[in-house]
Amino acid sequence: MAIETIIFPDAEQAAQQVAKKIQQLIQRKPDAVLGLATGGTPLLLYRELIRMHAEEGLSFAQVRTFNLDEYEGLPPDHPESYWSFMQRNLFDHIDISPGNYHLPSGMLAADAVPEHCEAYENAIRAAGGIDFQILGIGRNGHIGFNEPGSTISSRTRRVTLCEVTRSDAAPAFGSIEQVPTHAISMGCATILEAKEIVLLAFGEHKAEIVAQAVCGDVSENVTASYLQTHQNIHFYLDSAAARDLRESM
Ligand code: PGA
Repeated sequence: MAIETIIFPDAEQAAQQVAKKIQQLIQRKPDAVLGLATGGTPLLLYRELIRMHAEEGLSFAQVRTFNLDEYEGLPPDHPESYWSFMQRNLFDHIDISPGNYHLPSGMLAADAVPEHCEAYENAIRAAGGIDFQILGIGRNGHIGFNEPGSTISSRTRRVTLCEVTRSDAAPAFGSIEQVPTHAISMGCATILEAKEIVLLAFGEHKAEIVAQAVCGDVSENVTASYLQTHQNIHFYLDSAAARDLRESM
């Protein structure tokens, strides 16, 4: 299966189109299950969903969500935890019910982690599976925190973060030493079970890895390349992130 790429003049227009897809899904299925991502990339999308809630009456009252990942060792109220990222950038501004959103916990004792990860997988299944998964892509091709070497059959688990991932996060934390070394992440198999997946990538710094994910071999070196095996996957790109694709097509 080829990955369909949709190229927009800018990130704003791409984010608006993805927000429209989510709006249509929720109108069709008010209790839709969304897979959510953090990072800089989905911010414009979340801003547009908040606008649709405020101005167009889009209700998230029955929507269920599962986030991809969470850092290990950060309490939920830490400003860089993905829990607080989601509150600040989306949940505080829409009518989602607190019992309906889920993130892995990064605060468990080591011996409680496997059970927690299994419970997270079971909760996704019990919700009926993810209808619509939003992804970003790391500069090393990771999806969620599935760093190079993660297998296509990986499930929610404790992962070790790569140097490039930690250095990309360093500005937000103040220094690389303050960035957690581990996280809990949905696995590649967890992600690939979503019924529909949209990966967003913006900016020139993503161009090379986007081209590898779309045109390169399906390989554990670039876990986003596993998306080539999915039946309903779209990459929404700005023209900068699509630069190397256009050259290779
Ligand atoms: P970004 O991160 O959105 O901050 O670029 C993407 C990712 O690492 O998945």
